[in-house]
Formats: sequence, C-alpha cells, structure tokens
Amino acid sequence: MPHQTRSPKDAILAIDFGTSNSTVGHPTAAGPALLAVEDDHVTIPSAIFFNIEEERMQFGRDAIAAYTRHYEGRLLRALKSVLGSALIDETTAVGNHRIAFRDIIGLFLHHLKATAEAQLGRASEAVILGRPVWFVDNDAMRDQAAQDQLAAIARSCGFKHVEFQYEPIAAALDYESRVRREELALIADLGGGTADISIVRVSPARHLQADRKADVLANAGVHIGGTEYDKRLSLRQVMPHLGYKSPLREHPTRELPAAPYFDLATWHRIALLNGNGPASFLKDMQHMAAQPALVHRLLRVVRERSGHLLAGDVEQAKIALSDNARATLALPYVDDGLAIEFSRPDFEAATADETEQIAASIRDCLCQAGVAATAINTLFLTGGTSAIPAVRAACQATVPQARLAEGDRFGSVGLGLTIHAGVVGGAR
Ligand SMILES: Nc1ncnc2c1ncn2[C@@H]1O[C@H](COP(=O)(O)OP(=O)(O)OP(=O)(O)O)[C@@H](O)[C@H]1O
Ligand SMILES: [Mg+2]
Repeated sequence: MPHQTRSPKDAILAIDFGTSNSTVGHPTAAGPALLAVEDDHVTIPSAIFFNIEEERMQFGRDAIAAYTRHYEGRLLRALKSVLGSALIDETTAVGNHRIAFRDIIGLFLHHLKATAEAQLGRASEAVILGRPVWFVDNDAMRDQAAQDQLAAIARSCGFKHVEFQYEPIAAALDYESRVRREELALIADLGGGTADISIVRVSPARHLQADRKADVLANAGVHIGGTEYDKRLSLRQVMPHLGYKSPLREHPTRELPAAPYFDLATWHRIALLNGNGPASFLKDMQHMAAQPALVHRLLRVVRERSGHLLAGDVEQAKIALSDNARATLALPYVDDGLAIEFSRPDFEAATADETEQIAASIRDCLCQAGVAATAINTLFLTGGTSAIPAVRAACQATVPQARLAEGDRFGSVGLGLTIHAGVVGGAR
C-alpha cells in the first residue's frame, strides 16, 4: 500500500463488511478501537431499508425496525452473499426505480465510511477490508471477481487505497494480542455467510511485525455460515407449512416448484419474490396445488412483504436453540394460530451436512498446513455461528487436544483488521 502518498490528516479505516453484521475500526496511538457505528453499538447489522413512504434510506437496526413497523419500502440484507454471484450485475425494484445490487452495497459501505468520518472528524481515503478465504468456493476466477467487485465498490465510495486481509487472519491477530507465549493456533471464524479457517503461529514477539506470511501455515474456508443454517431450518420445518414439497393437484406424485421456497428461505434472495413476474407465478402455483390453502400462506407472506420477518423469526428460533432444547415460533402473519415447534435434535439433523462441511474445512486446513491435529495448541472460535453447540463440538472434535479460546464473537475480526491497519498504515 503506497501510504507515503496519503495525507497524515486522513484516517485509515478497517471495515469488516459482514454478511450479517459489520464493524469499522480505526488504529489509535492507544491501540485498535472499534468505532460506534449505530448509536452506541460497535456493530451494525448489514441491512439497508429504502423507506419509500418517507423517501429516505435507513441502515442497520434502524432499517430492520422501520421494516418491522410496516413502513412501505424495501429491506435488503446479507448483501455480501451477492459478491461473486450473477446477482451482482442485476437490479432490484425499489419503488418505481430499479437499483443495481452493486450500488446497494456501495450505499451501505458509504454509510459506514461517512459514519466513521463524522466520528473521527476527518476524511478517510484508505481502507483495510476483511474478506473470507473464499467468496466463491474453490473457484479462483469468480473469487477474484468478487474481491474486485468489492474493491471497485469501495473506490466508488471515495477510498483511494483499498487493501484486503483474510478474516481469519484478522481474528488471529486479535487472539494474538492476548497470548503470552508462542503457540500454534487454529482459528475458526464462523460467521453469517462463510466459515473461515486459518492455522497461524501466534507469537507475542512478532505481533506487530508487518510481514507475517511465514507464520500463516494455511487458510481454508467454505461458503457456509449462519444464513445457511437459517435456510436449512426454514426449508425443513417452516416452508412445508407454506406448501413446500406438497403435491400437485393433477399429478399427486409430483411436488410444487421449489424455487420460490428457496428464495424465501435465502436472506439475500427474499427481495426477488417481489414484482409482477413472481406474483403471477405464485398465483399459478395455487391453482396447481393439491392443498391450495398452504400456497395461500406463501402468497400472503409475499404480498404482505413478511419474508424478512419470517427469516428473522427463524433465525431467532435457531439462536434460541443454542441455549435451549426447544423453541416455539408463532407465525400469526403467515396464518391465524400457526405456531411451529422446533427441537435441537431436529435442527441438528437439518444442518448435519453443513456442520460436517465446516469440520471438513478444518481438516483440509490441517492437511494443507501439513501439521497433525495434535500439534494445535489452541482452537480459537469466533463469529456468531460458533455459538451453535453442534458446530462447536464438531470443531473441537477435529483437534480434541487443543485448548478452546474465544474472544468477542462479533468484534474479533474487526479488531484484528484494525490491528493490521495500524501495522500497515500506522495510527493516524
Ligand atoms: N447465539 C447464537 N446461536 C447461533 N447462531 C448465532 C447466535 N448469535 C448469532 N448467531 C448467528 O451468527 C451469524 C452472524 O455472525 P457474524 O456477525 O459473526 O457474521 P458476519 O461477520 O456478519 O458474517 P461473515 O463473516 O460470514 O460475512 C448470524 O447467522 C446469526 O444468526
Ligand atoms: Mg464475519
């Protein structure tokens, strides 16, 4: 990064643009600090609401609250998942306009930048952005395209210097700030969109050195995070109440088309169900269905734009299952009196493949690093999905002798990116 050309007055920011939550950090002489990005919060949900009624944009919790209060408008979440996908070049309807997904990501990043600059009282032209090990699983070209898209979006927001750091390396830097002696750590950042793994030799002596390549033994990752767990839970236990997998009237051995249910269960695709094309398709589905009352529920959710409400409630049920054996979800906005019972074993069965893929990614990382599982001293878990008991157990089973360590589940990556920003750009 050509930092010698930057004005000492401009600040370097470290942005963790997360699938579910984002942070903005800034290196100070006293150490890395996360800025308050929404009221007093250092995290902000990666959400944007186009409030058509009041002709304004809202971000984060404010966006979600406006949507929940039934303002007329459009809510978009999990936009990071669009990077590297075909959707990045598409547009979505917002009132009478269409906005490109890449511009919507730009509006969110711009909001983070402006909020940070207002707090710091100065401009910022340099940013360290976190990135998953793979935006797009095992596809180097599409993965590079995703990073290029994010870099171009950051530049369009006014950042002239854009640099990336792997999210799990950032988490390692945060963990390293607390270690007393050199050790081999397996870092698992299990977030909303991706599971990212690194094996890093952490060392207090080398903590603030710029070149740490030799200490990073391997990186691995898979496009599985909390939003995928939400989707699996929704498809398994909620969508069947809206007609998913129910038979056709005239061909009882065949099922209704699954695509609308997948869209409704996938955070970043919910918005695609709005519009005239999908609406007429859903009406046709009701005619095709052997149980039209179920499809009527689907139509109601889409018509009343309750898709994000439903996804949010499924997510809350998932979160409740991290601490409880059972959870109940009341869905009066889907149908009068509809309530669904969830149990932890059902949830674990619905998401066993995902959990296994995360564990497989850890084993892959060990293999790439060429180290035995027994050589790992510490397993450092971070990211919201690391709270799921089955996921924790699966990760621990890959390195059973390692000590378990945890930091700030939602701030570790952001803090580590800020440590990195301080090393490459200095505290300014
Ligand atoms: N107690 C909990 N139990 C289970 N899941 C949880 C819990 N708390 C948060 N989550 C999930 O964690 C995810 C968000 O985690 P996090 O904020 O680390 O992701 P992110 O950084 O936005 O995503 P990524 O790094 O993948 O881009 C969400 O899917 C959320 O539902
Ligand atoms: Mg994250």
